[in-house]
Order: sequence, then C-alpha cells, then structure tokens
Amino acid sequence: MADNEGNIAAKDYGFGIPQKQEGFFLKGNENASYGIKSRLSQVFNQKSGHTVMLAFDHGFIMGPTSGLERIDLTINPLIQYSDCIMCTRGILRSIVPPTCNKPISYRFDSGTTILTSLNDETLHDVEEAIRLNVSLMAVMVAIGDPDHEGSTIRNLTKTVDYGMRYGIPTLGVTAVGKNLTRDARYLGLATRVCAENGANVIKTYYCDEGFERVTNGCPVPIVIAGGKKLPERGALALAKNAIDQGAAGVDMGRNIFQSDSPVGMLLAVREIVHNGATVDQAFDCYETYKNSGSCPCCCGK
Ligand code: 5RP
Repeated sequence: MADNEGNIAAKDYGFGIPQKQEGFFLKGNENASYGIKSRLSQVFNQKSGHTVMLAFDHGFIMGPTSGLERIDLTINPLIQYSDCIMCTRGILRSIVPPTCNKPISYRFDSGTTILTSLNDETLHDVEEAIRLNVSLMAVMVAIGDPDHEGSTIRNLTKTVDYGMRYGIPTLGVTAVGKNLTRDARYLGLATRVCAENGANVIKTYYCDEGFERVTNGCPVPIVIAGGKKLPERGALALAKNAIDQGAAGVDMGRNIFQSDSPVGMLLAVREIVHNGATVDQAFDCYETYKNSGSCPCCCGK
C-alpha cells in the first residue's frame, strides 16, 4: 500500500521544457484513437514504417491450398519471421499457438467460395475479434462487382464503426474476382473508396504501370498481396517495386509458403521491406538461406 508519509518530495517538473508530443508514424492515422494507434504500432515496424505480413487465409475461399494442407507443419515454423499473421478464426483456434505472440490480422468476413460467386460476405461478431485479441480486422471490398459492391462496402463501413468503438483498426482488402481488372485506374479507385470509408490500412495488388498513383492517391498505408506463385526473383522484384513506389509493406502468402525455401523467401522479403535491399541482395539472401540454412544479411538468421 502507498504510504502517506515519508515519501521523497516530487520536484522534477521540467519547468520550461514543453511536454514531448509525438506525431504518429503511419500516414493517415494521426487522428486515430489510442487503441488503433497502439495496434497499428504492433503491426508496422516504427523504424522502417513498414510491415511483412504472412497471409494464410486462402482456405476460407479455396480449401486446402497447396502449401496450406498442414498449416501446423508449414506455416507455424514461419510465423516467427513475420511481423503479423493474416488468417481465419478457425485456423487460429485449431492450429496457431496463442504463444506465438504475433499481431493478428483477422479475416473478419466470410461467405462464398471459388466454387460459386466470390465476395458474397457476412461479418463476424466484433466480440470475437476482441476475444481473439486481434490487431486488424480484414474485410473484403468488391468495388466494381455489380452483385456485391454495395454489400461489401456496407461490411467495410460496419467494421470501421466497430473498430472506432473498440480501438481496432480495419484492413480493407480490395477483392479478388474474375472480372476485376488490376490496373492503376481500378486499384486507385478501389483503394481510395476503402480509405474514404474509413479503412486504416488497405491491402491491394501491385500493378506494373502507375502504381505510384495508387499509393499517392490513397491517404492511408497500402500493403500488397503477392498473388499467384512467381519465380522467386520475380516475387522479390514485385515487392521491391511496390515498396519503391510507396507501399508500406506486403501481405504475402503463396509466394512465401509455395517457395522451395519459405524461410529464405520471408527473410529476403524482409530485407527489401525493412532494410532497403536491392532485388539482387534479397535474392542472394534467399539462395544463401536455401543452400546453407543461414542468412548473411543483417537479419541475423
Ligand atoms: C485472399 C487474400 C489473401 O490473403 C491474399 O491474396 C494474400 O495472399 P497471396 O500473396 O497468396 O495473394 O486476401 O482474399
């Protein structure tokens, strides 16, 4: 119990020194609440301002995707090399150890699969996000999909409202869909609509032409998905181009867990995202890890 007498008198009031005011390191989130900023600071590295998220939520629309048949064997050993994991609640509860201590980007919606029409989604209970102690609530937004645009924007809006109430940031995910193009005009529009509706971070695809217009026209950070498996050098070049053109990180799945060296790829992507490595340097990191099980670069693995 605190004593009322005999304490050292408080005297270090720092007269004349204004109280330090910290700005917030992530664009567009300066005016967010304490809880949202605190959670975003878990996901993004404050020094680089970037993040390497590991996505393995594919099963919710694709079933047992190649590389995700046994998440306990293939993904759990990778988690330590990521800054954040993106997955469903089913995989969290059944496979991911709660002791992994990684921020969670929780797939907060679910609905149709690749067998029918994608993007007909419903939201989970926000209490579930709180119970799972998540750092981001991820919601698909199908801009330009005549059947699901309105409902998915309503899902995003509701998620942002929950997030504002409980201090959990929202990740707007621009949808995958057969008829949705991936050029700068579409991606610029889709990411901007997500941001205008209050998403704190947006996940989208990289495009070869004009990606800088996408990141510059979006007032909050953008992370990119990797998409279908590419040769390793190509996937690293994709990450490098995206970062150089203003992306705040990657949220990659198949190009990590379908690689012949998933740890090597994750370390190599980290070198690009956090340490400004060139594609050649990162590829060297991947190859060295693949061949020797250790990495020469500053990641210290
Ligand atoms: C699916 C997703 C996936 O998480 C996303 O596509 C990332 O994985 P990949 O790098 O394999 O594309 O959001 O809706």
